[in-house]
Amino acid sequence: MVSGSSAVGQPFRAASLRRVKIAGLSTFVPPKLLTNDDLETLVDTTNEWILQRTGIQQRHIVDPGTATSDLAKEAALGAMRQAGVTPEQIGFIVVGTTTPDTIFPSTACVLQTKIGANNAWGFDLGAACSGFTYALTTGMQMVASGAHDHALVVGADVMSSIIDYKDRTTCVLFGDGAGAVVLSPAAEDEAGIIDFAHEIDGTGGPALCMPAGGSRMPASHETVDQRLHYVKQDGQAVFKFAVRKTEEIARRILNRNGIDPSELDLFVSHQANRRIITAAADRLGLPPEKVIINLQMYGNTTAATIPLALADAIREGRLKRGDLVLLASVGAGFTVGSVLLRWAL
Ligand code: UT7
Repeated sequence: MVSGSSAVGQPFRAASLRRVKIAGLSTFVPPKLLTNDDLETLVDTTNEWILQRTGIQQRHIVDPGTATSDLAKEAALGAMRQAGVTPEQIGFIVVGTTTPDTIFPSTACVLQTKIGANNAWGFDLGAACSGFTYALTTGMQMVASGAHDHALVVGADVMSSIIDYKDRTTCVLFGDGAGAVVLSPAAEDEAGIIDFAHEIDGTGGPALCMPAGGSRMPASHETVDQRLHYVKQDGQAVFKFAVRKTEEIARRILNRNGIDPSELDLFVSHQANRRIITAAADRLGLPPEKVIINLQMYGNTTAATIPLALADAIREGRLKRGDLVLLASVGAGFTVGSVLLRWAL
């Protein structure tokens, strides 16, 4: 087996692609809760409105000073433990995040040091709520090509660091969390990742963004005064796009693999709004027992929602080895992602 081209050793020569499986999964959320009742004291909202329009009951929120890499570390250590892989065996790290610890160095670098992955290289990946599906696809290529035997794929966000707790249209939606998987080679006849399909559509940029803090509008007293370092969203535009595209990308990846939606064992969508997930699932003809919804406990944790949903599905006995699973995400950008796999754990 190739041990990784970034380490001192033999040069990398791509061979035929290897099948890749998720060999370990772990998640972490900070203990502190922000409930709908808490939000009623911060903005003009009600528990009933939030529940009815989103399905969210509570979110986990970090204490000040806790960063994305702190959450990612806990998830990464758990995923490596389950995979039976040491930090030194990880050749590649990709962190899907919209809330890196700092713009630079990357959270992947911070995480690499925190977990002692001394033979790994890696980077952060910006795809907002599609951070996990995109990172999974990226990590998969590293293992499939033979470049590395073990890749660490993380989706982690501290959304509370960029949420305006004076804006009722966004502050009720988001929470903090992290999920990580270890990817390893699978035997030809073993379960693993089957296919991926992704899209971006930059015309959707203004519908969901953080206007300031980048090169277009660097931080200044004015940008802070104007509250431009927070998430801004046209909720209805994102909602409509998310429902349409979740169905579309799901059908595309299923069709080209000759799979009817009814053959899926579990549909794991990005968790932004209960109504988006149920609308997309209805259009696909999927019954509720094949759809995981756990946003009531976490809100929208951006790149962490899909691993959190997978972990809860396992805990609830709804995801078992050999199950056919479809992951789907829509996020800022717009980004659209899907990964089809047979569960290997
Ligand atoms: O992960 C990808 C990122 N995000 C998403 O996928 C989110 C997509 N969008 C959504 O989930 C929904 O659009 C929201 C949950 C954000 C909003 O739900 P909506 O049913 O689209 O509500 P709306 O924006 O049409 O607002 C309806 C009303 C408005 O009042 P008026 O103009 O009818 O008087 C809002 O001002 O609800 C009001 N409103 C609220 N009321 C109480 C908006 N936010 C709140 C709130 N509490 N927190």
